[in-house]
Amino acid sequence: MRSTNSIICSRAMCKHFFLIFLAFIVMLSACSKKADLATPIDPQVIVTKTLIEKAKFPIGAAVTVAHLKEADFANAFKNNYNQLTAEYEMKMNQIWTSPSGYSFGNADYLVNFALQNNMKVHGHTLLWYQSTPDWLKTASYDSLNFENNVKTYIQTVVSRYKGKIVSWDVANEIFADNGSLRIDATVYKTFKDPVGFYGRCFQYAKTSDPSLKLFYNDYDIVNNSAKRNSIRKMADRFKREGYPIDGIGEQCHTTVWSNKASITSSLTELATLGLLIHISELDIRVNQNKSDSYVFTSSEIQKQSDMYSAVVSAFETIPQAQKFAITTWGVTDKYTWLTGWWHPKEYPLLLDNLYVKKVAYDGFLLGLK
Ligand code: XIL
Repeated sequence: MRSTNSIICSRAMCKHFFLIFLAFIVMLSACSKKADLATPIDPQVIVTKTLIEKAKFPIGAAVTVAHLKEADFANAFKNNYNQLTAEYEMKMNQIWTSPSGYSFGNADYLVNFALQNNMKVHGHTLLWYQSTPDWLKTASYDSLNFENNVKTYIQTVVSRYKGKIVSWDVANEIFADNGSLRIDATVYKTFKDPVGFYGRCFQYAKTSDPSLKLFYNDYDIVNNSAKRNSIRKMADRFKREGYPIDGIGEQCHTTVWSNKASITSSLTELATLGLLIHISELDIRVNQNKSDSYVFTSSEIQKQSDMYSAVVSAFETIPQAQKFAITTWGVTDKYTWLTGWWHPKEYPLLLDNLYVKKVAYDGFLLGLK
C-alpha cells in the first residue's frame, strides 16, 4: 500500500512538474513574441536617413575643389551624395587655357575625390557658349580649323578620363528662350549648320570613350515648350543621322512659385524621346522679389520642401530605365551660385549654412519612391 501510494504520489508530482515546465515554455514563447514585436518587421516602418539610401538612381551634387578641401563640406557631400559634377572646373575655359595649353589640376582633383569615395562622375560640360575660352573666341578660325581644334580638345579631355567618368554633357544651352539657336555663341557664328557641328561633337566624344552616356543639357526645358520642341527636333535628327545622344539634362533651376503640375507633364512628354533624363542642376529659389528684407519663414521653408517633393516625384513618374540621376547644384546654402546670380538672401539647397538637413531634404525623401 505504502509503496503503491508512493508511486501514485510520485506520478502526481511528475504531472505537477510537467505542468510547471509547460507553463514555463508558454511564458518563454510569449516573451520571445514580445521581443519580435519590438523589432520593426514592416520595411515601410524603417526610417530612411539619407537620399542615397532610398533612391534607386544616383544622387549627384555640383562641387568645387576649394569647397571639397573644407572638411565639413566634404563630409556632408560624402554622406548625402554618390555622384559628382564639377560646378565650374571642367568647363572649357578652365581646362583649355591656350591653343596648346591644358590645365587639368582641378578636374583631376575632382575625379580622384569621387573615385576614392566610390562616387560616379558626370562631366560638365564639353561645350558651352559661356565658357568658350577668350583666346578661342578671338582666334578667327574658319569652320574647318575651329572644328579640328575642338575635336582635339574633346578627344584629349574625354580620353584622359576614360573609364573614370560615366557621362558627359557634350553641349549646354545652345537654344535661346524662344527656341531658336543662340546667335551670340561662337559656334553659331562659325557654322552654317551649328546643330550638325554639335552632332559631330557627340561622335568625337563617343569614339574617345564608347562606354560614355552623352547628354544635351539646358535650362527651363520643362517650362518652355518652344525650347523643348527644338531639343526634340535636334534629338530626332541626331538619331536619324546616327549621332550618339543618350540623354537630356534638364537643369531645373526652379522656384517655389513654379507650376508643379507642368513639371510632371513636360517631363513625361520629354521622356517619350526614349532617352535618359537627368535633372542635372536642381535648386529651388525662394526669394521671388529679390527682396533685401526677405525672411525664410517656416511657411516658405515648407513651400520649398513641397516643391522638392513635386520635382522628385515628377521624375519618379518617368520609366525606371530612363532615370539617369538627380543632381543638386550645390550641397549647402552656405555656398550657392544663386547668392550671386539671383540675390544674397537665397536658400535653395538641401542643407542649411551649418550643414543641417533642411525640411527640403525631407521633401526630397518624400518624393522618392
Ligand atoms: C555656374 C556656376 O554655378 C558658377 O559658379 C559659375 O560662375 C557660372 O556657371 N547653368 C549651367 C551651369 O549649366 O554650368 C552654371 O554654373 C549655372 C547655369
